[in-house]
Amino acid sequence: MAEVIVALDLPTGRAALQLVDRLPGLRWVKVGPVLFVREGPALIGELKARGVRVFLDLKWHDIPNTVAEAARHAAALQVDLATVHALGGRAMLEAAVAAAGALRLAAVTVLTSHTAESYGEAVGRDGDAEVLSEVVRLARLAVGSGVGALVTSPHEAAAVAEVAGPDRWLVVPGIRPEGSEAHDQKRAATPREAVAAGATHLVVGRPVTGAERPAEVYQEICEAVS
Ligand code: C5P
Repeated sequence: MAEVIVALDLPTGRAALQLVDRLPGLRWVKVGPVLFVREGPALIGELKARGVRVFLDLKWHDIPNTVAEAARHAAALQVDLATVHALGGRAMLEAAVAAAGALRLAAVTVLTSHTAESYGEAVGRDGDAEVLSEVVRLARLAVGSGVGALVTSPHEAAAVAEVAGPDRWLVVPGIRPEGSEAHDQKRAATPREAVAAGATHLVVGRPVTGAERPAEVYQEICEAVS
């Protein structure tokens, strides 16, 4: 059974908590930079008080000491899962893992907003970079540095699942229940497809946050992957 993480991409903490209160049985939420910058750690406390697990998706990429301190403070807030960029390198990843304690770290590899061309330009390669091989290479670096989870698009999930092995989590956004709107997700997968590709945690935002009856959509997704 995979876990369903609801991305609280809502404008205010109040709106986020109202949604949480409308979702019986909710187990996991994701808080991103917009909501965290606006609401700060107080929102994390409110969410934890409601008994949900918190995925803090700030995608840290900085010098090792800074990322380690951020991880330590997130762990103190009882955040359950947080993201780091594999491109931060081995020293940064190892420092973060050492500081994180019970907080599990998930590595992001190549942002899905990149094209082969834009990624090649960013990392200084002549010609286009091969994105899938970069995703796999960075996933290996992250695993070798001790992270407990990898984030991947559905498109690359099967390849990343091989690198992750059986004990690490595979966190997959870009999930769309059968027949729902794709929004800006270009290569979405259904919940079942994502699980078949190896996902252990599905990240779902707008299909739930924008639904007229969010509890029903959440329940359907949970049932599809249970
Ligand atoms: O609304 P939607 O289901 O598309 O939301 C997906 C969530 O996952 C958003 O919070 C988005 O930032 C995040 N995400 C993503 N694609 C990635 C990485 C993260 O959609 N490649």
